[in-house]
Amino acid sequence: MLIRNAEQDVKYVMFTREQIAARCRELGKELTEKFRGETPLMICVLRGAAFFFTDLCREMDCLMDMDFIAASSYFKGTKSTGTVRLVKDSNIDMGKRHVVIVEDIIDSGLTLEYLVKLFATREPKSITTVTLLDKDVNKPDRFRVDYYGFKIPDEFVVGYGLDYADYYRNLPYIGVLKEECYK
Ligand code: IMP
Ligand code: MG
Repeated sequence: MLIRNAEQDVKYVMFTREQIAARCRELGKELTEKFRGETPLMICVLRGAAFFFTDLCREMDCLMDMDFIAASSYFKGTKSTGTVRLVKDSNIDMGKRHVVIVEDIIDSGLTLEYLVKLFATREPKSITTVTLLDKDVNKPDRFRVDYYGFKIPDEFVVGYGLDYADYYRNLPYIGVLKEECYK
């Protein structure tokens, strides 16, 4: 592991803060339409989705309440090992609510699939999944998200909440990490 600083470790910027903000506005409009007259329960999956969640919610023009959960999919280097665990749950009653799960990125789909299955047992009125990034390349049978910000190729990205070994979450853009940092 070779962690220096963003200038040296980021190969290129994939999405600027302006591009992200513009896409948040569009998604916010779509979700505002979808939940017109309703009060969705917005669920942020910590820690990666923190910035996306707060930006997206502020682009939605409806009543809502918010809660924060944390899931950990065990990572080895830059690949998920497939075991998902809820490390912080919500104690808001999801019964008869429109629940919206907001994630940073979907890769194998195991994290979102796990969360949707778990929350479905709490008898919500509906569950909607939103992710900023979707690495869907060559994964035809994977869990499908309802809303995504951008489809991306199979590259390891950091910034705007996304981390490598807990670093780089605070970058205001999304960038591709140089392979030498994790190889
Ligand atoms: P999945 O369960 O394989 O869909 O993985 C989802 C989780 O893996 C996300 O919530 C991220 O925490 C993490 N992840 C997947 N790809 C990346 C990446 O390129 N950068 C940072 N985190 C990632
Ligand atoms: Mg995550």
